[in-house]
Amino acid sequence: MSEERTTRVKAEDVVIHETEKGRHVVINGMHIRLSQPFDLGIDWVGEGKSMNQMFACWYAPNEGDHPMSPRLVGKPGVGKTVMAYAVGKKLGRPIYFFQATSDTTPNDVLVSPIVVETGKDTSTVQYVASALVTAMIVGGVCVFDEGNRMQEKAWAALAPLLDSRRYVDCTNIGLFIQAHREFRYVATMNDDASCFELPEYIKSRLQPTILIENPTRAEERGILEVNLPTGDPVVLDYVADFLDLARQGDEDYSIRDGIHIANYACKLINYEDYCGRDMDPGEAVINAVEQILGVRQARYIKQIIWQERAA
Ligand SMILES: Nc1ncnc2c1ncn2[C@@H]1O[C@H](COP(=O)(O)OP(=O)(O)OP(=O)(O)O)[C@@H](O)[C@H]1O
Ligand SMILES: [Mg+2]
Repeated sequence: MSEERTTRVKAEDVVIHETEKGRHVVINGMHIRLSQPFDLGIDWVGEGKSMNQMFACWYAPNEGDHPMSPRLVGKPGVGKTVMAYAVGKKLGRPIYFFQATSDTTPNDVLVSPIVVETGKDTSTVQYVASALVTAMIVGGVCVFDEGNRMQEKAWAALAPLLDSRRYVDCTNIGLFIQAHREFRYVATMNDDASCFELPEYIKSRLQPTILIENPTRAEERGILEVNLPTGDPVVLDYVADFLDLARQGDEDYSIRDGIHIANYACKLINYEDYCGRDMDPGEAVINAVEQILGVRQARYIKQIIWQERAA
């Protein structure tokens, strides 16, 4: 597409239309549907260092300031996605999640054409703005989740957005969009065999790296409670003690593991109760650890329960 045929728009100048079918914008006669923000409905527990680092990256009070686009890293299930969401929420901005995968194409990241049937033999092309482009237009937060599952060709489309230029060039529809001043971006990164190494020019734009570390025992107990508000408090105590002791033993169990263990242990107790039987919370947690992490891994919780019984 030649430069003359490209329409340049600034997000602040775009009129957002609201209908019962959702929100859309009309640019150059093109009807572009906007994505929906998402509410995780979860409260973040803890006011850690990493959260303040995120706020600092996005703090840009003056006209000439550019917010930074950090990379969130940490072990699987440590709370990267939830923390990115929580910071955006605290800033009072709508949050848009973009889930990156190895099949994500440049159009998926920006604006995709879709064919809509309008009658028996008629159809029309409509456009859908990705979660990322929607956040750029409305001035929201884009949580670009599991970014390193995405291949280089899709990342290339984001290079100008992630430096001080803050624009994207949707060449497929001849549209050049300058991000809203309030737009904020964070990419979470995962660490497993299905991930790609990020290209250097993207790494150098996704700065700084913010590391999320394991919570303290007290924070962990609070996290279990917000995620399982009706959970048996004795089970939640055991699971927080278990994770704490296991980590002292250099085990890598995540908060997500802890939530699964506590959830399953509570379900075992509740179901036994429904059947008219009693189940001891300690026994339920041992069962849950064995079935979720493995039999050998239950030694930490057994140690806690034996010590408690001996005292
Ligand atoms: N500080 C926290 N406050 C509340 N909930 C938390 C916190 N940390 C983690 N969680 C809970 O732990 C679970 C895992 O968190 P999340 O999905 O954000 O992890 P992740 O690091 O993004 O995992 P993955 O590496 O698999 O993408 C979620 O259910 C989330 O609600
Ligand atoms: Mg995640």
